[in-house]
Amino acid sequence: MKKRVLFICLGNICRSPLAEALFIHRIKERGLEHHFEVDSCGTNGFHNGEQADERTRKNAQKHGVVVPSISRQLTYGDVLDFDCLITMASDVHFQVQRFCESDDQRNKVHLFRKFDVLAPDSNVPDPWYGGDDGFEDVFHIIKNNIDPWIDHLMNQDT
Ligand code: 4NP
Repeated sequence: MKKRVLFICLGNICRSPLAEALFIHRIKERGLEHHFEVDSCGTNGFHNGEQADERTRKNAQKHGVVVPSISRQLTYGDVLDFDCLITMASDVHFQVQRFCESDDQRNKVHLFRKFDVLAPDSNVPDPWYGGDDGFEDVFHIIKNNIDPWIDHLMNQDT
């Protein structure tokens, strides 16, 4: 069975759409795409229906990665349907956990930088209010954490 993976940030226009795109990019490169279903969403619906932020898309494009997702808000169905909900920062993490109604659901929620040897469990900074450097930094933080997630999910029995 395919593993269903959902990346979650606040607006679903900067961090989680990029994580979704980089995850898909790498599973394709590694020939693992048939093992996964991947999506992203935001805890707020402020940007519902919008493309990812232009700065996110342009910066990713510079690195050869297309970010095609359209913003949507987290639903309770997501908490039921996805096997692994990966939150890009602690504020989002606690919002998603509050949304859950059981320990089984809460146990599916993980911080994105869980395996980051440089800064375990730290936040992926929100680049929205900053300059272009912030988008480049976020690209590398996310890129460096994708393979550890793929390895972890591939090694799980469930
Ligand atoms: P994201 O960044 O959560 O990485 O998509 C944000 C973009 C927009 C807003 C918040 C965060 N906003 O409140 O408009």
